Amino acid sequence: MSFRILGTGSALPERVVTNDDLSDFLDTSDEWIFTRTGIKERRICTEETLDDLAMEASRRALDMAGVAAGDLDLIVCSTTTGDHLVPAEACAIAEGLGASCAAFDVSGACAGFVLALDVADGFMVRGRASRVLVVAAEQMSRVLDWEDRATCVLFGDGAGAAVISVDEGQNPLAMSFSTTPDVASLNVPGISGTCPFRPANHAASTLSMDGRRVFRFGVGAICDAVKSLAGQAGVAVSHIDHFVFHQANERILSAAVKLLGVDDARVVRTLRSTGNISSACIPLALDSLVRSGELERGELVAVVGFGAGLDTGACLLRWEQ
Ligand code: UT7
Repeated sequence: MSFRILGTGSALPERVVTNDDLSDFLDTSDEWIFTRTGIKERRICTEETLDDLAMEASRRALDMAGVAAGDLDLIVCSTTTGDHLVPAEACAIAEGLGASCAAFDVSGACAGFVLALDVADGFMVRGRASRVLVVAAEQMSRVLDWEDRATCVLFGDGAGAAVISVDEGQNPLAMSFSTTPDVASLNVPGISGTCPFRPANHAASTLSMDGRRVFRFGVGAICDAVKSLAGQAGVAVSHIDHFVFHQANERILSAAVKLLGVDDARVVRTLRSTGNISSACIPLALDSLVRSGELERGELVAVVGFGAGLDTGACLLRWEQ
């Protein structure tokens, strides 16, 4: 029992925010941001809701797959920044698409899409689903401290999706998940509420990060995960055709490329024009690879997400579309 990716899709908000736009109200510059991160611009929600973006990405994936929303057995959405604490973002997607299948979210931060993919695979293996929509949608702009130049310049909003179906092939060839427990290094505190039995606490629910710590973790996470995937599948790292890594910092990508000794041109990059969209980075980068026409049947694709947790989620796929 395995799965096949039938279609992918992605969606970004209309509003482009350049590094120069940020330097209008922050003590920063295009030069600093681009040199330190590789980011030139990001998309930020203005009129759009996250539900809108998630549904647009899903519709594109369903169109490519040739699957009607009514034929889905399950929708799994990865998000930590959904439009609703309750219900799950996946339920809003189901309602918007007119689907009537089971729908729920997973919370795995930047590793969330790969976790959602594995959850979907588990439903298929147990015979509970044969067509699943896996979505990742993040509105990072709502959890940023827009006065903190060390974090708000890094992130953006967006969504990506994939439709997967039961298949007789071998996918996933390998999966790898791990957590190095460390809450403080990348943290968004929960909402505090107004409970009369607790002392008033009006701390904003905004993101804080130890950038250097997460940087070091990210480079190691990519290298360890790629080696683990290759070992499990019995292939050499050099035989992997494409790498879809979490898009956090160009310097993380290039350090990992150097340490792994892989061809830089094989690493998908979307970061320059999107910034870090947490779990939505991976399906968005995968969609850009699929739509570029560079991905050929039979090729191997290694996918690695890493971030808050500190979580890592990775999988190796043979492209069978
Ligand atoms: O999905 C989650 C994954 N997140 C990540 O992977 C993030 C990983 N970390 C990073 O990408 C990098 O650590 C950052 C981009 C966050 C920071 O880059 P860095 O090279 O580690 O810079 P730094 O934090 O060491 O800061 C260097 C200097 C500091 O000034 P001083 O202390 O040297 O005077 C900062 O205050 O750069 C300053 N700085 C800025 N200057 C202009 C920090 N942010 C900015 C800014 N513009 N936006």
